[in-house]
Amino acid sequence: MTAELEALREQAEAELGKVGTEEELLTIRTRYLGRKGLLTGLLRNIAAVSPEARPRFGKECNELKEILTARIDAVLDGMASARKAATLLDARIDVTLPGRGVRRGRVHPVIQVREEICRIFASLGFSVVEGPEVELDYYNFEALNIPKDHPARDMQDTFYVEDSIVLRTHTSPVQVRIMEKTRPPVRILSPGRVYRRDSDVSHTPMFHQIEGLLVDKGVTFGDLKGVLTAFLKQVFGEGTALRFRPSFFPFTEPSAEVDIRCVICSGQGCRVCKQSGWLEILGSGMVDPEVFKNVGYDPEEVSGFAFGLGLERIAMLKFGISDIRLFFENDLRFLEQF
Ligand code: FA5
Ligand code: MG
Repeated sequence: MTAELEALREQAEAELGKVGTEEELLTIRTRYLGRKGLLTGLLRNIAAVSPEARPRFGKECNELKEILTARIDAVLDGMASARKAATLLDARIDVTLPGRGVRRGRVHPVIQVREEICRIFASLGFSVVEGPEVELDYYNFEALNIPKDHPARDMQDTFYVEDSIVLRTHTSPVQVRIMEKTRPPVRILSPGRVYRRDSDVSHTPMFHQIEGLLVDKGVTFGDLKGVLTAFLKQVFGEGTALRFRPSFFPFTEPSAEVDIRCVICSGQGCRVCKQSGWLEILGSGMVDPEVFKNVGYDPEEVSGFAFGLGLERIAMLKFGISDIRLFFENDLRFLEQF
């Protein structure tokens, strides 16, 4: 190599030996190998070299270029691995430190009860379906044999969204929606939120119901009693006192409500059961022929029963809770007990 090239190489080596940052390294690369760099400058001046020495000079220039490129790449690589090692060291985890506790949530008691009930009815062949919470007046009332301006509407104090749209007051509209689009036999369960202008120890403006509907040939009131009794004994235990009480719903005939012996006072009478010793948990009855006609079923051919139960009421009885509003206050001291 010519002395000139040798000197250039030594100079570059010396600089590379001292280089600290990637930025400095890139500056060095530009200074030697860049388009206006030192080595490129020498090559450009090749005309000044004697014709005999030219080929050798050119070859040596190219060699030096390769050497320097390789050297610079090697230093760059070294810097990259050093950076990686530093990052790893930085992110190192001390596995001997005590862990931070994870606060585990749990399933809300009302939802626990919903799941249990759905399981029981699934074992009886019912499938779970859902309907909208913002509902047409037609499905919530009219198709259920509750005409506009009929006094039966007073049974449920309703939130109206618009003239013909309500927050559903019960899950019964799902019955109609399902029957409209399926042929009998029907066997469904429909859990969901419902809304009424209600508020006291056993009533909240939003609560949960589960609707049940079974339609087939030859279904009787005996089937209704049998299914509901079997279900309630599974939820509350064999020894539970319950009673079927005649009642009225415009969409069932005959109708019955089911009460469970109040667990808060063991039937002695308290403010939760309004001194009656019993707490109402569901409404039920044989589907009214008018409802069948509204969905295009022939009441001469099929019959069925329906029921709507209050989930919070069942949870109150099951867990011995004396104020329904506790379910919605989200007080962890309460919720952590379930
Ligand atoms: C109904 O809502 C009927 N749709 C039930 C039904 C369905 C009858 C199918 C026949 C056939 P009722 O308004 O009684 O009925 O309410 C049913 C249950 O919801 C009650 O037994 C009670 O457990 C619960 N419930 C009613 N209002 C409230 C409230 N404001 N807060 C909590 N639970 C309530
Ligand atoms: Mg009732």
